[in-house]
Amino acid sequence: MNIVLGITGGIAAYKAPDLVRRLRERGAEVQIVMTVSAEEFVTTTALQAVSGRPIRSNLWDKEAEAAMSHIELARWADIVLVAPATAEIMARIVSGAAPDLLTTICLATEAPIALAPAMNHVMWNNPATQANRELLEQRGIHILGPDTGSQACGETGAGRMLDPETIAATVCGLSVGKGKGALEGRTVIVTAGPTREAIDPVRYITNRSSGKMGYAMARAAAAQGANVVLISGPVNLPPPTGMHVVNVITAQEMFDATHEHVGNADIFVAAAAVADYRPTHVASQKIKKSKETSRIELVRCPDILTSVAALKRAPFTVGFAAETQNVEDYARLKLEDKKLDMVVANKVGDGVGFDRDENAVTVLWRNGRQEFPAAAKSDLARSVVDLIAQNFQAAQGADTEPRLTVLSNLD
Ligand SMILES: Cc1cc2nc3c(=O)[nH]c(=O)nc-3n(C[C@H](O)[C@H](O)[C@H](O)COP(=O)(O)O)c2cc1C
Repeated sequence: MNIVLGITGGIAAYKAPDLVRRLRERGAEVQIVMTVSAEEFVTTTALQAVSGRPIRSNLWDKEAEAAMSHIELARWADIVLVAPATAEIMARIVSGAAPDLLTTICLATEAPIALAPAMNHVMWNNPATQANRELLEQRGIHILGPDTGSQACGETGAGRMLDPETIAATVCGLSVGKGKGALEGRTVIVTAGPTREAIDPVRYITNRSSGKMGYAMARAAAAQGANVVLISGPVNLPPPTGMHVVNVITAQEMFDATHEHVGNADIFVAAAAVADYRPTHVASQKIKKSKETSRIELVRCPDILTSVAALKRAPFTVGFAAETQNVEDYARLKLEDKKLDMVVANKVGDGVGFDRDENAVTVLWRNGRQEFPAAAKSDLARSVVDLIAQNFQAAQGADTEPRLTVLSNLD
């Protein structure tokens, strides 16, 4: 995959060498094109070393132009990624202005363009920037993030560049998802994140799932060419591009959304940590403290896995099992009891599994198992999705009825 990586003049440019490394780890060739302002924030020496290619920045560099013209660069790109993208470059791209090499390539390319904005939160929320964002999205340009959190200026808000790992995973997904993947034309539903079950208007029961593994699975399936529906519980993650995202809060809402879409699904990946129980009654007013002890009566939530597996035309079924002990034994029991096709098992608790960027899993199926050692969740998800695709295709050979459900309750 050939990526033109545009780097513009924001503080987050210091993360560019890390981003280049992560793109190259995925097999991408990266040609960097910097703006003049970007050179104030990161050195060409560092970028040339990590990209392995001379840096381009000047539209009027006769030697570089003769070697590979701006038009050839625009054609060479499978994707043009601008990260970080300043408010200024967004405005230049919206207006169609092309005073420099990067904007000229953006105008001249037929490849997808993705921007990862990074700026102070007031700049991001400025109506001009928001109007530009909206126009860019209407024209099919992918806007990745930004994230919310503490900023270089010392303030907090929306405008942080997404972390390089997320950008790399998303961009590689956008590019390879076009017609070459093992799940091309298949519909995959992925559920992700926790659910929240209300106790009263201000309190709820939830769990520690971050949604990171589920989101990574959704991106990996999209990268394999699948049409992905991501049904997400409340998480603190930017919505991925290139898929249909349905946001839900409760287990019942996740159940309803799943059944609304599952009729078309070849694969159902239930990566969500769905609540097993919810309060029998939700108090209409905030519960006041009175007695020393108090009880909350709980009732079972609908079991999404069981309900999907019981469908007449159930998709191929893979379950995820998050356990704190006897991980493989419990996971195999789940595989057999629920008649799943695969189970992805991992250990959680003691700082392992939940809300981390790394994970290690063991995948089980009727006649086999495969261990995946600790790796970034995005890398792990790609390997697990590859394995699912292989098992799915094998099952398709044995049974012409499409049947794949992936179930997960761990992130
Ligand atoms: C120290 C410093 C930090 C800056 N950080 C950002 C930033 O994070 N995001 C942004 O949109 N602009 C930022 N700017 C403003 C841009 O550098 C300026 O708008 C510039 O014209 C962008 O040019 P370019 O988009 O061609 O790189 C910063 C400027 C300075 C002096």
